[in-house]
Amino acid sequence: MRCRECGYRSVRWLGRCPGCGEWHTFEEETEVKAARRETLAGDPPRPLTEVVGAEETRITSGIGEMDRVLGGGFVPGSVVLLGGDPGVGKSTLLLQAAVRVAGIVGRVLYVSGEESAPQVRLRAERLRAVHSGLYLAPETDIERVEKHISELRPVVVIVDSIQTVSLDGLAAVPGSLGQVRECTVRLTRLAKSTGIPVLLVGHVTKEGVLAGPRTMEHMVDTVLYLEGDRHHTYRVLRGVKNRFGSTNEIGVFEMDSAGLREVENPSRLFLSSGAAPVSGSVVVSCVEGTRPLLVEIQALVSAAGYGTPRRMTAGVDYNRVILMAAVLEKRVGLMLSSQDIYVNAVGGVKISEPAADLGIALALVSSFWDRPVPAGTVVIGEVGLTGELRPVPQLGNRLREAAKLGFDSAVFPAASGGSNEPGGESLRLFAAGSVSEALDLVLTK
Ligand SMILES: Nc1ncnc2c1ncn2[C@@H]1O[C@H](COP(=O)(O)OP(=O)(O)OP(=O)(O)O)[C@@H](O)[C@H]1O
Ligand SMILES: [Mg+2]
Repeated sequence: MRCRECGYRSVRWLGRCPGCGEWHTFEEETEVKAARRETLAGDPPRPLTEVVGAEETRITSGIGEMDRVLGGGFVPGSVVLLGGDPGVGKSTLLLQAAVRVAGIVGRVLYVSGEESAPQVRLRAERLRAVHSGLYLAPETDIERVEKHISELRPVVVIVDSIQTVSLDGLAAVPGSLGQVRECTVRLTRLAKSTGIPVLLVGHVTKEGVLAGPRTMEHMVDTVLYLEGDRHHTYRVLRGVKNRFGSTNEIGVFEMDSAGLREVENPSRLFLSSGAAPVSGSVVVSCVEGTRPLLVEIQALVSAAGYGTPRRMTAGVDYNRVILMAAVLEKRVGLMLSSQDIYVNAVGGVKISEPAADLGIALALVSSFWDRPVPAGTVVIGEVGLTGELRPVPQLGNRLREAAKLGFDSAVFPAASGGSNEPGGESLRLFAAGSVSEALDLVLTK
């Protein structure tokens, strides 16, 4: 047994590590031989100028949003790990991708350790994803999986999930750290030597203690997460590591009975449908990677009853909301310290960008004064501690998206100097230097 945190070794399992004092950090150790890269073994070092680079050919996943996140498709010989909460739609997404690859490029092997072949067939029928080029292998033995791959020679291999495959003869139980590591190493080696891209599904456990994708993130080339809220139908595919592309891109899908549908215009999902302007509601223009996203922020500020005022947020950063309340109190003179404050992002989306600061601030003031922000206004800007508005990146991109969705005016930081940015010509542009200036422009007309 070995402590995950500090490496302290013990012959038996201990609840608390004597080395670092952490609880429940002991894991079994298994004798796993270090992976040898056969392709590299024995090669002497060479100057980089003499190394011939691999040709950049990508294999499309057949799903535009997935290709976008991968950086243009699967790189031959790469290993991609797809993680996500139980039931979020990992198998659905991969089955849909598999059948499209089978239709466009060639044979796909789908190794399903979790579901029997009839179950997969049933799902495929529901998703209208039945194709003769898609081969199913309900298999959990890694050696047999390797045999299937070398016999079938598919263009893409999908293993659903890595926790269910195991190597016979290894003392550890399937799904344990030792097994997951060993199986990942073997599949990685196979991918590199044959050039077949391998997609692994990994389970995330609540505590992250079990052998989840976290332990494998270093071993694979690309790590994707499928995220989604149980109460909403949209799913976001996000890259958290990519050796062959950007990790900023997101893919947006909507789940229905026919599976995951690509959403080409995701901004509509995160705007509430109410037409008349109401106080406390502000639309901000965020950017995820290169993709602009309009999100509605709703705030409710009401006099606190007894005791400490409450502050609650969903989808926006709690600390930034507190910060905005403090800036408004100090720089604008609003007495928010005696108010309960609730702030939500519509649609269950999560915004982490500071460019949403001004939107949060205006939503708070709008609710506090009970005065709506005029309809068709989009708000952009990061707020500093002195109440000044800081420039935001990709202003043109944000303005274009607002214009595309029918907004007619935009408030943005004067420091961005973006009034001559292309794309926002159809918008009335209001440049503001500080939060108070933005308030004057939007709320006191
Ligand atoms: N008949 C159905 N009609 C509509 N939606 C369905 C139907 N069956 C399943 N779903 C949706 O598909 C989701 C399950 O998707 P999927 O099995 O791909 O998830 P998963 O991430 O692979 O889960 P697990 O971690 O258990 O393998 C369900 O949560 C549900 O929303
Ligand atoms: Mg599944």
